[in-house]
Amino acid sequence: MSAGPEVTDEEWETLERAAREVREHAHAPYSGYRVGAALLDAHGGVHRGCNVENASYGLCLCAERGAVARAVAEGARRFRALVVVTGGARAAAPCGMCRQVLAEMPPSFPIRCVSLDGDRFDTSVSELLPHAFDAGYLDE
Ligand code: THU
Repeated sequence: MSAGPEVTDEEWETLERAAREVREHAHAPYSGYRVGAALLDAHGGVHRGCNVENASYGLCLCAERGAVARAVAEGARRFRALVVVTGGARAAAPCGMCRQVLAEMPPSFPIRCVSLDGDRFDTSVSELLPHAFDAGYLDE
């Protein structure tokens, strides 16, 4: 099951451009590791997020969760794709906390992870977090 038609090359390119751009806005003075994320919703809207760090380190917000928060605030609940752009040699997948947040709004969707150095791979929410804890478990 998916939230729409297969993502086109043009849509992937739009998302990657958006993620690269928003990464420039990252607030990452502690790690120096900037991340940009762009989510495509079922209506074609693009929602962007960057990591926002804090002097109280545990409060750091990841780019992916920032993008989800922005999307939900705009009324988007169903997603077709996510692109995450990071610095460094290796493309990076969303962290564990972000995986759980991305799994909150099924169905699963494809995720493209891209590094500035050109490394990249495709995965998906369900591949990154099989057997996710979801709302169904709360129905006792
Ligand atoms: N970060 C993200 O934005 N997304 C991830 O999935 C992994 C980590 C950020 C958090 C922190 O600001 C920096 O990268 C280093 O961990």
